[in-house]
Amino acid sequence: MMMGDPLSRIRFYPLHVMLVAELIENGELVGVIRGCIKNVGTHSGSILKMGCILGLRVSPNFRRKGVGQKLMSSVEEWMVKNGAEYTLLATEKKNEASRNLFTIKCNYSHLSSLLIFVHPTTNTFLPKHFSIRHIKIEKLIIEEASSLYGKIYLKPKDLFPKDMDAILKEKLNLGTWVCYYKDEANYDHHNPNPNPLGFLHTTLNHARDKIFPCLRMLVSNGSNSSLSRPFGFLFMYGFHGEGDNLGELMECIWRFTSRLGESMKGCKVIITELGLGDPLVSHVPKNSASMSYIEDLWYIKRLSGHGDLKDEVGNVFVDPRDF
Ligand SMILES: CC(C)(COP(=O)(O)OP(=O)(O)OC[C@H]1O[C@@H](n2cnc3c(N)ncnc32)[C@H](O)[C@@H]1OP(=O)(O)O)[C@@H](O)C(=O)NCCC(=O)NCCS
Repeated sequence: MMMGDPLSRIRFYPLHVMLVAELIENGELVGVIRGCIKNVGTHSGSILKMGCILGLRVSPNFRRKGVGQKLMSSVEEWMVKNGAEYTLLATEKKNEASRNLFTIKCNYSHLSSLLIFVHPTTNTFLPKHFSIRHIKIEKLIIEEASSLYGKIYLKPKDLFPKDMDAILKEKLNLGTWVCYYKDEANYDHHNPNPNPLGFLHTTLNHARDKIFPCLRMLVSNGSNSSLSRPFGFLFMYGFHGEGDNLGELMECIWRFTSRLGESMKGCKVIITELGLGDPLVSHVPKNSASMSYIEDLWYIKRLSGHGDLKDEVGNVFVDPRDF
């Protein structure tokens, strides 16, 4: 249970490590940390070697003895040896222990705030009169999705992964969809010209059997006891929208994803995470009591080099491998 992350997200990265803390006297496992290194692009056009820390856990009986701090410094050492210029990590806003560890003891500074939106796989959050007859949803082939990301989607982001194709080709990735109004049917994803076209696109990632205690608390609410067992979820990422009525297109995408989730065995919730500075945050359908959200904080630390990253960034690409 202490390992906490059965998906072992770091395996999606070519360069990754998992370190454990053991008691010298009997080898008991008391802590674990995982890290990876990836190339990220920035708004100014530079490429940074970014370390990413995922899945830090210390066994409850051994907390507050310096194990967490030691694991952090050991994984940072591995990152420096492997050429990382920065290191990045995320934690829930309400997790005071890790916030203190990162900021007071390990000198991380706040980079960005993100919102994780969670909804059970049902369509009930949509108003009864909602109709999607005038909206078209179309699945793109990987090459089309890749070109869309390259041409228009990643450019306005403050921070984004450079290996988008690897993410799109990963087998947990279900596909990329574009959603647009039928009367603007001349949509051309090879040569997108979003004005006055209204469209929204997203990519879905299916994670199975992931135990995520904070989500379980939020969505179970006594009424859905099946969430006390491991469950699957659909993660929507790569949202990008332009034109008018983005709220309606966004609702349409949530509805579509809910349907897809309902048809998948064990899939209980739909999740997305957006930077607080992402303009699409205001279009997430929040008109339902069953839509909940968690506030996440991202922290960063410079390890070496002279990277030009701003102190705070708002519009980040949420890499599904880090979720
Ligand atoms: C967060 C966590 C990894 C800290 O591990 P730890 O081994 O207890 O941390 P350390 O003993 O190295 O503590 C270092 C500093 O962190 C801060 N800290 C740790 N636990 C804290 C707590 N419960 N409340 C407030 N600050 C805390 C303190 O500043 C502490 O220094 P101090 O003891 O001199 O005051 C551990 O509490 C844990 O596994 N939590 C559950 C999983 C989790 O939240 N992981 C992080 C998600 S990213």
